[in-house]
Amino acid sequence: MTDDLRGSLIGARIARPDAEAKLTGSCRFLSDMRFGDLLHARQVPSPAPHARLLGLDCRAAREAPGVRALITAAEVPGENRVGVIYDDQPLFAEEKVRYVGEAMAVVAAESEEEATAAAALVEARLEALPALLSLDDVEANPEHPIHSGGPIAVHHRVSKGNVARGFAEAAQVVDATFRTGSQEHYYLEPLGCVALPGDRGGVTLLASCQCPFYIQKAVARTAGLPLGEVRVVQTPTGGAFGGKEDVPSEICARAALLALATGRPVRLLLERREDIAYSSKRHPYTIRGRLAARADGRFTAIEIHQDAEAGAYATLSPPVLYRSAMQAAGPYEIPHVKVEARAWYTNQAPSGAFRGFGSPQATFAHERLVDLMASELGTDPVELRRINLLREGGTTGTGHRLDASVGALETLERCAAAVPAEEATAKSSPALREDPGRWLLGTGYGSMIYGNCLGKAGWHMDGAGATLQLHRDGSLSCAVGLTEIGQGAEVVVTQFAADALGALPEQVTLLPVDTAFVPDSGPTVASRNVVMSGNAILDAAKQLRSRLSPLAAELLGCAEGEAPLFEAGRVHSGERELSLAELAEEAFQRNVNLAAEGWWHAPPLDFDLRKGRGEAYFAYSFATQAARVAVDRLTGQVKVLGVWAAHDVGRAVNPAGIEGQVEGGVAQGVGWAIGERVACEGGRILSDNLSTYALPTALEVPEVETIIVESPHPDGPHGAKSLGEPCIIPTAAAVANAIGQAIGSPVDSIPVDPEEILLRLEEVGLG
Ligand code: MOS
Repeated sequence: MTDDLRGSLIGARIARPDAEAKLTGSCRFLSDMRFGDLLHARQVPSPAPHARLLGLDCRAAREAPGVRALITAAEVPGENRVGVIYDDQPLFAEEKVRYVGEAMAVVAAESEEEATAAAALVEARLEALPALLSLDDVEANPEHPIHSGGPIAVHHRVSKGNVARGFAEAAQVVDATFRTGSQEHYYLEPLGCVALPGDRGGVTLLASCQCPFYIQKAVARTAGLPLGEVRVVQTPTGGAFGGKEDVPSEICARAALLALATGRPVRLLLERREDIAYSSKRHPYTIRGRLAARADGRFTAIEIHQDAEAGAYATLSPPVLYRSAMQAAGPYEIPHVKVEARAWYTNQAPSGAFRGFGSPQATFAHERLVDLMASELGTDPVELRRINLLREGGTTGTGHRLDASVGALETLERCAAAVPAEEATAKSSPALREDPGRWLLGTGYGSMIYGNCLGKAGWHMDGAGATLQLHRDGSLSCAVGLTEIGQGAEVVVTQFAADALGALPEQVTLLPVDTAFVPDSGPTVASRNVVMSGNAILDAAKQLRSRLSPLAAELLGCAEGEAPLFEAGRVHSGERELSLAELAEEAFQRNVNLAAEGWWHAPPLDFDLRKGRGEAYFAYSFATQAARVAVDRLTGQVKVLGVWAAHDVGRAVNPAGIEGQVEGGVAQGVGWAIGERVACEGGRILSDNLSTYALPTALEVPEVETIIVESPHPDGPHGAKSLGEPCIIPTAAAVANAIGQAIGSPVDSIPVDPEEILLRLEEVGLG
């Protein structure tokens, strides 16, 4: 019997089931939830960026009013370690503190005020050590290691062909050094969780997070409990962007220890200032790059050296640098490639996961190099990309031959076709019409490649599960192991489930992610949710349909070999039909199991990690974005007027969701390029709220036109590929290229600084 998947809900603009509650304010986040007998927790942060911790005097804090428990490294029942990949990070500082804001202790009290007051009473005896706050500091002070293993947290490389030969064959070589800044996630809901002690041991965590299975592991390890006694349930999560990948494990472990120590529910919810000081940021990168081309524009070689600031602990630097290295050569056919990528420890809050995971930084460098080459060759930047972009049958920078699903060129062509003439932009903008002489217009492009899911370095956890339960009335419960974090996964998961069983979307209820009921599906990162959960749901649905189809065929009196169709809440064959509810009830009466668990894992990859060559990921998304900017000759300020964003998503599951993702990613990319600056003094972050950290507002976010390119991938569910992170990846590069074109001077460093732009304008005689 054929398994007929209609796919009629795939590509539909269905509204997000979570939208109404989030828009009207009725959605309950952690701080809205009420618990009886709740204790409130507060972390005790390090005041110093780098110091020996000689002792902690906690006597006054323990005796302060309302205090019920205080935990330091000495009171951790299990291991005092939380490093997600390397074992370099303690849950509570031990012999050293390595950044301002690092937790030295945690206290639980009857009220938030009492917890805050008690935390301030903890006295640390610290002996200051030289603080290394930037890559320059690290280079200047090799004798002051932050960790005993040396200054380098991570080293990855890529090699393909022979770069020396590639440069020798070239007619033109360009080289430059690029700098990209840090970035704060600024999710609307700060980090937080509630830990509930179990009646018979164990603990349940309700957490605002991306990765419940990471939390489960961290809590079990620090509390000394088996994994099975730690249950993690995700709460509605008010944004994450990578910032709730590994950091919630630390928050949850501290709250769990307090709950186990007191036998009471404990809430640990950071205030904005604490959150910004304590939590991860985007890695600042310095990238030196060289690109070589023949006279006809064909690239022959690229050499890239990436140096990233890891911050105080390695946390997610290993996979971030893996990704930025693997994608360093961009979406281009280049025969000779060499990449070295290193992350260095500094005394800053750990750099970690942030939408794009090293890709926006890598893309900034290769896209600036392409524009530099275009200007050296006197070629149009779009034409130079057209010549070099990957086609089917081409090989990536790591030497992965791509036989299918390469929409790179189509993203470029459709993006370029959508960008209006500069005169049209000048006419449509009121500011520009009023005082045209004041503004310099420019247009720039950025193209990117994005390896879907975890790739070779994370293949061992690149599997995911889903459970489907059909109820007797035809409604359906669905549970997946990957989280909704604002990206719009819930509606897509609902579409896959409804489509695969022929249910109506409103018949599907998606359950919160709960480690007790779905298999460990790895982390919700790397834009995996659609691909992984989608495939797992298709697997579960296939099992259910194999049980239901023969019964439906019997009930409908189908001829031998004739398969009934499951569609829109009914099952039919010719003129005869049943509702899904009737079929479910009949199946129940015959003792058919109406629940199924699905599983999918990434295909095996042939990749040599030591050489950095081969199949780095199983699938790749592509995109090209164009930005049009106006530079103010009086102030040096940049307005991004429009962004045209063409994304190869494999298959569009929900075009409205795609537009939402792209608009959000572009806004975040514009912020990173021209506005957001994590200001530090002596290792202390000064920009710790919205008055000092300049997020883009409605005034700065440009008009965005989303262009959907479909180049289905054979391993994607219905052909779908990753989209979440690609939306931000090329934006800053396109903006920098546009500014460079407007002012006639290259922009190799972001965030762009208006004063620097004014100086450049004077240099080139436009000021
Ligand atoms: Mo994401 S930046 O891979 O959490």
